[in-house]
Amino acid sequence: MSDEANTENHDARIVIRNLLHLEGSPYELAEDARRGLTSSPKWMPPKYFYDARGSELFERITAQPEYYQTSTELEILQRIAPLIVDRVRPTALIEFGSGSASKTRVLLDEMRRAGQLGAYGMLDVSEAASRAAAVALVATYPRLEVECVIADFEQPQPLPFPGRRRLLAFLGSTIGNFEVEAAQAFLRGPAERMRDDDAFLIGFDLVKDRETIERAYNDAAGVTEAFNRNLLMVLNRELGADFDPSAFDHKAFYNESASRIEMHLVAKRAQSVRVTDLDMTVEFAPGETLRTELSHKYTRRSVEALLEAGNLALDMWETDPDQKFALGLARRR
Ligand SMILES: C[S@@+](CC[C@H](N)C(=O)[O-])C[C@H]1O[C@@H](n2cnc3c(N)ncnc32)[C@H](O)[C@@H]1O
Repeated sequence: MSDEANTENHDARIVIRNLLHLEGSPYELAEDARRGLTSSPKWMPPKYFYDARGSELFERITAQPEYYQTSTELEILQRIAPLIVDRVRPTALIEFGSGSASKTRVLLDEMRRAGQLGAYGMLDVSEAASRAAAVALVATYPRLEVECVIADFEQPQPLPFPGRRRLLAFLGSTIGNFEVEAAQAFLRGPAERMRDDDAFLIGFDLVKDRETIERAYNDAAGVTEAFNRNLLMVLNRELGADFDPSAFDHKAFYNESASRIEMHLVAKRAQSVRVTDLDMTVEFAPGETLRTELSHKYTRRSVEALLEAGNLALDMWETDPDQKFALGLARRR
């Protein structure tokens, strides 16, 4: 994105590689918007939420009292980080969808305590978030080497630091944003590239009562709502569209039969939206929705099936006492 194009960097310990706009990258807003906005029902991939403002809004979501996912995952992580580091003995941590990397510090701290902290590879679409996180991390960990790969994790990437024993991480239940088959396909990428002694730590939001889940995506302060509408601002800025964000309602509900939250923007009235760069006009009927995100919820059994289809196997499974969230440690099969 235009506000994230500067890849200059002044700290020798930080390497930033932006692969987003290379040929063959699946990160193609124009193509995805043309496909999604002409589909019925309309939809957009969630990766386009995360411009600089979207990443900031996501950080604010994680601090909302209704959003139990972050605090619960952090609590499990604090409890089991010593066990994981002891079991895997990684000298590099590689994280998909790393964002601000704030929870990641629990793992980095533990690796440092064990005298094993060497390198951290971040893979995220948001250059703004990755850059800010990398600068803060090298200030905290003076000998840490950081490689930021700005790329779409749907495209299998070579994993950084191949000479080291690696702990891979995919936190925040971001895996739940994929459709089931896409999640399986995603996992096969790292599974193919991991060595036998590497391990993959994945956060899973668990199936639970509807009210708790729905509240997490409908916070009283309206931050998730602002995050959802930010997608329209991205389309306006990047594709010359003229969406009026206030003409859409935020809607997030739990689809129990598919075990997933669906997040939508619902047209308050009939409207025609011009998307100049696509030379296209998109019509919305009153009440018509644009689906912006899925967030699947899991059971231990569904996680085991997912990992198996991704050529991985569960080595360790930890939840909080209320079984709201789980961390699974997986190995290659
Ligand atoms: C739900 S947030 C989770 C952030 C952080 N890991 C956490 O647990 O709080 C998803 C993160 O993945 C990144 N992301 C989303 N889709 C992506 C994609 N297709 N490729 C790479 N990064 C992506 C976003 O920029 C964001 O930082």
